[in-house]
Amino acid sequence: MLQILNDYEKTRLSERQPLPDSYLGLADEDMDVRIAEARRTLGRRLVILGHHYQRDEVIKFADYTGDSFKLSRQAASRVDADYIAFCGVHFMAESADILSGPHQQVVLPDLAAGCSMADMADPDDLDICWRELEQMGVGSVVPVTYINSAAAIKAFCGERGGVVCTSSNAPATLRWAWERGERILFLPDQHLGRNTAYKLGVPLDRMVVWDPNEICGGLTEDEVRAARMILWKGHCSVHTRFTVGQIDTLRRHHPGIRIIVHPECTLDVVQAADDCGSTEYIIKTVQQSPVGSVWGVGTEVHLVNRLARTLAPDRTVLSLDQFGCLCSTMFRISPNHLLWSLENLVDGRVTNRIVVPDPQRHWARLALDRMLAIQ
Ligand code: 13P
Ligand code: SF4
Repeated sequence: MLQILNDYEKTRLSERQPLPDSYLGLADEDMDVRIAEARRTLGRRLVILGHHYQRDEVIKFADYTGDSFKLSRQAASRVDADYIAFCGVHFMAESADILSGPHQQVVLPDLAAGCSMADMADPDDLDICWRELEQMGVGSVVPVTYINSAAAIKAFCGERGGVVCTSSNAPATLRWAWERGERILFLPDQHLGRNTAYKLGVPLDRMVVWDPNEICGGLTEDEVRAARMILWKGHCSVHTRFTVGQIDTLRRHHPGIRIIVHPECTLDVVQAADDCGSTEYIIKTVQQSPVGSVWGVGTEVHLVNRLARTLAPDRTVLSLDQFGCLCSTMFRISPNHLLWSLENLVDGRVTNRIVVPDPQRHWARLALDRMLAIQ
């Protein structure tokens, strides 16, 4: 299948330093010993951040685990570390670079670890969208980007009085934005935007979807003018695989089951679930439920399996999708890549470093700082 890459993906992949052959085919136990040794050697100079979707073989080495919001805070707080090894995806490592100090270097063990949703918002398309909105005479628009987006998109929002949000703080961020403008341009995830606005009482007929592949998003001036939410046509290919049918099946087979899903799922799935929240929220909610509870969880399969096996013992945790939904880009970070990155750092080599240049850095930082300040 022919894959069309946008400039953001092309740059990322052209800078990628591939894993050397000597790091292929290593035994798991040997890698564990060598990773532990490299961590010991680097000591406090190194901090490893791990997103909840990482595999067990990788996340067990993380100093901090979390959702995107928590990891952003961690990246900003560990000022004593020279190196931040980010076991997650590209946009997360970019945010860590923006929030960390000038003496710190952020490494993404494999630059191919992108996020297909983030790649759906191309900065050039956003420029066109903004100009078309101006040409349509639609003003009072506050741009809000989900953290799952390129630094250039965050910078665009920062420069125009907008902000970044995560799945943890999306409602507070939308309220913040509506205090500053009549309507929000929300990107790249239409589902997080729709679910959050709907929860805050915005009717569906006051939301429109902007298709960046159509002239003027495929919308009329009147449709855009009437909207409180202009939703970018982007989605997560993992979370949109969950369906109401799967929820119904689980409820039939497990009376009393509670269903919790991530807000990147479609509105009908979120409405059919009992609860919805970020990965960190999902973990806390299941852990705090009574012993013996049964949960159906709609999020990435590594987290669901970890909840079932170790994070929430004495509860039954099932995936909504019986085959599990894997985030293939998160899966790119293998223990081999982590080992290679750390041994390079021990030898004074920084491979697959993430650097967000100025002025993008300045404006993206402003948008992220606004996000961190919103309670
Ligand atoms: P969280 O911030 O909830 O961890 O979500 C990140 C993500 O990419 C979900 O698909
Ligand atoms: Fe991106 Fe979806 Fe993977 Fe999250 S699960 S990193 S949104 S592709």
